[in-house]
Amino acid sequence: MKVPFNYLNFEFKNNKKIISEWKKLIRSTDYTLGKYVYKVEKKFSEYFDCKYVIAVNSGTDALILALKSLGVKPGDEVITAANTFYATAGAIVACGAKPVLVDANDNYQIDEKLIQRHITKKTKVIIPVYWGGAIPNIKLIMKIAKKNKLKVVEDSCMAIGGKVSSKHPGTFGDIGCFSFHPLKTINAIGDAGMICTNNKKIYDWAIKYRNHGMKDRDNIDYWGVNMRMQPLQCVVVLEGLKRIDKIINIRNKNAKFLDKNLGKLKNLVKIPKRDKNNTETFALYMIRANKRNNLLKFLNNNGIEAKIHYPKPLCLQKPYLKYKQKYISKNVIKQSSELITLPVHQYLSKKQLKFIITKFFEFYKFT
Ligand SMILES: Cc1ncc(COP(=O)(O)O)c(C=O)c1O
Repeated sequence: MKVPFNYLNFEFKNNKKIISEWKKLIRSTDYTLGKYVYKVEKKFSEYFDCKYVIAVNSGTDALILALKSLGVKPGDEVITAANTFYATAGAIVACGAKPVLVDANDNYQIDEKLIQRHITKKTKVIIPVYWGGAIPNIKLIMKIAKKNKLKVVEDSCMAIGGKVSSKHPGTFGDIGCFSFHPLKTINAIGDAGMICTNNKKIYDWAIKYRNHGMKDRDNIDYWGVNMRMQPLQCVVVLEGLKRIDKIINIRNKNAKFLDKNLGKLKNLVKIPKRDKNNTETFALYMIRANKRNNLLKFLNNNGIEAKIHYPKPLCLQKPYLKYKQKYISKNVIKQSSELITLPVHQYLSKKQLKFIITKFFEFYKFT
């Protein structure tokens, strides 16, 4: 039996609605900004319950735009999670600042207890990451930021459709950043991203920076760049938004099934703690497993497309090693040899989920 990780063929199998909207868009010649971009921004601002939304080209652009809006510049330090995708640190470096990585807790999220010791006179911003679509301790991180007069940019790229109590990830800090990369919870047919904020000053600056700093067609207020979301992607993302809550609901049911059954493999498999007050998105369903590398091979050989995110963590990547580091991210390094990511997406059948369990039990010869 095949249990694929990539579900995009299923996601876009029924693409009539998208194609028909694309035909309308082509006829409209509204190819840069225009009504499709404004519609996306309006709909997502309603969904997130956040005043201002700016649609951009990617999650990476969203992070760069957010940091630039807060004035991050060469000489500054920005604190973020050691457990994250390259883009979080890459965006900091793109602004000329230094990324400072904080070790993870047992849920693979930034360990908020360790943040304070990384703060220096140069620290400007904290970027908590919703790694894998799980929830960092954002309420406590906001308190730490307030106490130290720091800004917060949430890397909620993997967390669209999640909830922290009743609020959306990305709506706690000064700015929230989102990605519609094809393997996030809402998939574009290509790249797309977004920022949200409740701060009008930040919005007014960022909306112009996204579009060359233009005040109007004939005047620029400052230098900017082109970070505009493509209207073609707006059509796709709007379709995804209609179904996101349903998608997250199915992913949560699948995750619960895996948690419950894999949890029986005590001492062999470790499931992270789930907080009933929060909703994770399971952009990545990650657990820790004994003999991880052999398990991965076994699952892959049996048609289960398990993966590792990532075998070489950010804190061990070549460009990060050149920075003088005061602290080593021990947990993240340890976790990188134990973590395994399993398919959990909304197109899995019960049979496929049961097959995953059977193969785990077979591997560990657990009866
Ligand atoms: C945590 C995190 N931040 C940022 C990004 C960057 O998003 P994008 O690929 O849309 O640029 C990703 C995407 O993989 C991500 O997982």
